[in-house]
Amino acid sequence: MSLADFVAELDALVRDATAAFSAVGDAAELEAARVQFLGAKNGRLKTLQKGLGSVAKADKPTAGKRFNEVKQSIESALESASQRLTAAVGPATDARWVDPTVPGAPMRLGRLHPITQTIEELKEIMGRLGFSVADGPEVEDPRHNFEALNIPPEHPARDPLENFYLTGGVAGEACPLSPCLLRSQTSTVQIRVMEETPPPVRIISCGRVYRPDTADATHYPMFHQIEGLLIDRDVTMADLKSTLRLFARSAFAADVHIRFRPSFFPFTEPSVEVDMSWRDGWIEMGGAGMVDPNVLRAVGYDPEEYTGFAFGLGIERICARRHGITDIRELYKNDVRFLHQF
Ligand code: PHE
Repeated sequence: MSLADFVAELDALVRDATAAFSAVGDAAELEAARVQFLGAKNGRLKTLQKGLGSVAKADKPTAGKRFNEVKQSIESALESASQRLTAAVGPATDARWVDPTVPGAPMRLGRLHPITQTIEELKEIMGRLGFSVADGPEVEDPRHNFEALNIPPEHPARDPLENFYLTGGVAGEACPLSPCLLRSQTSTVQIRVMEETPPPVRIISCGRVYRPDTADATHYPMFHQIEGLLIDRDVTMADLKSTLRLFARSAFAADVHIRFRPSFFPFTEPSVEVDMSWRDGWIEMGGAGMVDPNVLRAVGYDPEEYTGFAFGLGIERICARRHGITDIRELYKNDVRFLHQF
């Protein structure tokens, strides 16, 4: 066979094969075309390959090179036809088509809110120091929020601008504790516990408190406090400080620093602001002090016999410092992308 004839046959073959592969409509037709052109026994390419032997020796390299090119283009025509068919029967067009190798959609696990997680942990820490957990209502009367805490009626802390007073009870009924309010501090629970239990007392209480503050990176009109109260004989300020230091070391780490600044609260004397610093600057965490004798008297304790300390710390601030949260408003946006991280 002359080189020209051989090349002409190759050209015809590649033309036929390309046309045939682009015309196939399903897997059976594709297979038939494959056998016709690329079949190992009687495929047209195989048959033509035998003609290579009769090409003149000098023309063989040219003929062989051309043969290989044709073989490659027929194979790629087969490949693209096969891809076209796979795409056509894919999930978009055929609901019966299921690819069991595709990974499933991951299940989202729920989790506790970071504030709840912090509360659980703080209860656990204080539990180890012998403090049990007490609770009180969020809707309070003036006696527990103010009077028994030595906050007299004319005190500015009772101003309506500083508190959420409630005008009515459920479904328009008059509030039975009128004028009741959303508690502004968990110190209410100190009174409730002491009213019910004789000394000694060793409790903490964690919960929501409400103040009409403008929300910013460190304030929110609703936030959480952890209140601590210890009443016994011979309790001193040193007990308060060592308890808070132990607490801070467990809540943060051994390298936490704690500092007291003189302050004033009507229900403690002396009173301090409690600051903590952990791998960063000082943050005001809350207040503390020795329980004022007037408070002890208000619940029928004898201040000559018993003394005690109390503290109230902001849980949002503890949580934020532990997790490096820079804006506590994030805690209440309910954005799962944020909450998912804790
Ligand atoms: N109740 C105070 C506040 O909310 C904190 C506090 C609690 C201070 C107990 C002293 C003792 O700011």
